[in-house]
Amino acid sequence: MGRSTPFYACQSCGAQSRQFFGRCPGCGSWNSLVEQSNPAADGRRRRAAPSPPVDGAAPRARRSEPIQTVGERPLQRLATGFPELDRVLGGGLVPGSLVLVGGDPGIGKSTLLLQSARALAEACSVLYVSAEESAQQVKLRWRRLGPEEGAEGASDQAGLQLLAETDLELVLQELEALRPAVAIIDSIQALHDAELSSAPGSVSQVRDCAAALQRLAKRQDTALLLVGHVTKEGMLAGPKVLEHLVDAVLTFEGDRFASHRLLRAVKNRFGATHELGVFEMRDRGLAEVTNPSELFLGGEGPCAGTATIVACEGTRPLLVDLQALVSTTSYASPRRTATGIGINRLHQILAVLEKHLGLPLSRFDCYLAVAGGLDVEEPAADLGVAAAVVASYRDLTLPAGTVLVGELGLGGQIRSVGQLELRLQESARLGFTRAVVPRGSGLAPVAAALGLELLEAGGVAEALVAALGVDPAAD
Ligand code: TYD
Ligand code: MG
Repeated sequence: MGRSTPFYACQSCGAQSRQFFGRCPGCGSWNSLVEQSNPAADGRRRRAAPSPPVDGAAPRARRSEPIQTVGERPLQRLATGFPELDRVLGGGLVPGSLVLVGGDPGIGKSTLLLQSARALAEACSVLYVSAEESAQQVKLRWRRLGPEEGAEGASDQAGLQLLAETDLELVLQELEALRPAVAIIDSIQALHDAELSSAPGSVSQVRDCAAALQRLAKRQDTALLLVGHVTKEGMLAGPKVLEHLVDAVLTFEGDRFASHRLLRAVKNRFGATHELGVFEMRDRGLAEVTNPSELFLGGEGPCAGTATIVACEGTRPLLVDLQALVSTTSYASPRRTATGIGINRLHQILAVLEKHLGLPLSRFDCYLAVAGGLDVEEPAADLGVAAAVVASYRDLTLPAGTVLVGELGLGGQIRSVGQLELRLQESARLGFTRAVVPRGSGLAPVAAALGLELLEAGGVAEALVAALGVDPAAD
């Protein structure tokens, strides 16, 4: 490719092409191709710069060795001050690791990381690089997030250094000079490398800045936390490029109009994914929600069309209310909407109920919502959805204190689900007294010890009769 040949890079997946397309051939997103400078020139510059020698380390002997003789270092994880964040990270921040924290603008990424910086700085050195806000703005926020003025520890924070800078080169110099244990970059899209001609936030800039930071951080064992913005379509800009590079990807999500926020790990080299951390945005920053089940329970007590399920997010069981509204349709094809659950799942459950209970649901509109804005993906919610729909259709109220767990097969059978014991324990802890579960769980002794009435069912009709106390199919 000649020096003057332009090329186009997708801002979403990083795919490159010489030709302009309205739709990216790599990931299929529209209008994401942007003209870039010559990649060959960038590549040459990067390759020409030799990586600096490792200070104090043995000369690099690039040889393989038997796995048994490879030295092991005990992992000394750093506590972020938020046990919820530590759990999502797999037990704390690993020194030298690279973590990407993504989320919508205004969701609270800066707040989360500044609060963590405050706690981390108690035990180790922390550099907070603010590329979006001025030092004064960060200071103001830091004050607001800390203890009240005049209270103990209100101003002594020797371990926290602040740098308001967008130039990659200066950030790298500061990192090298300070050698902090933890560095926070807020945000990676706002940093820019003056040697690249593309605009800040473009894929080549994001990739280049992240790679340069990573090289330095790994060498000096600095844990790096990168803030990444999510685009309109809900993707981290240049996600594919960065996701390969980093050790963990956390997403911070939630409804901007509700106060709670959910933190998940979508990738984690040092722990399990699908752990969930729950936070609440208060006027003095984020606070952990230690009992999230209460958040997702409607609180208004049993009413027609409501059913409670126990969803399992990672290792954490969550009790969640589902609400259904079934009403006679006035459309040619009935309306079905689902919030917090896949629409195809709802269609499937309605079809099973129509076929196996003989309910004429195709003549009814059906709306389904998960309380609290949670997304429930696991099939263990199926039985709860079925119960909510049938209860609304028949205008019935489920007996107070009932939870339902089970996957619905297409043949109307109730399939077993994982982590049932954990789910029963959480139900009992929150005062539930009856649990409808798949047959053959073998958990009768556990349920008895927990004071739960265990109702096992093999088929959907049997399960709903047990749950509702009446036969929903009988006219
Ligand atoms: P912020 O951390 O700036 O979001 P991000 O970095 O993800 O863009 O958080 C912004 C929102 O949080 C802002 O709309 C105000 C709200 N907020 C509070 O409600 N309480 C607080 O103590 C703080 C610091 C922010
Ligand atoms: Mg921010």
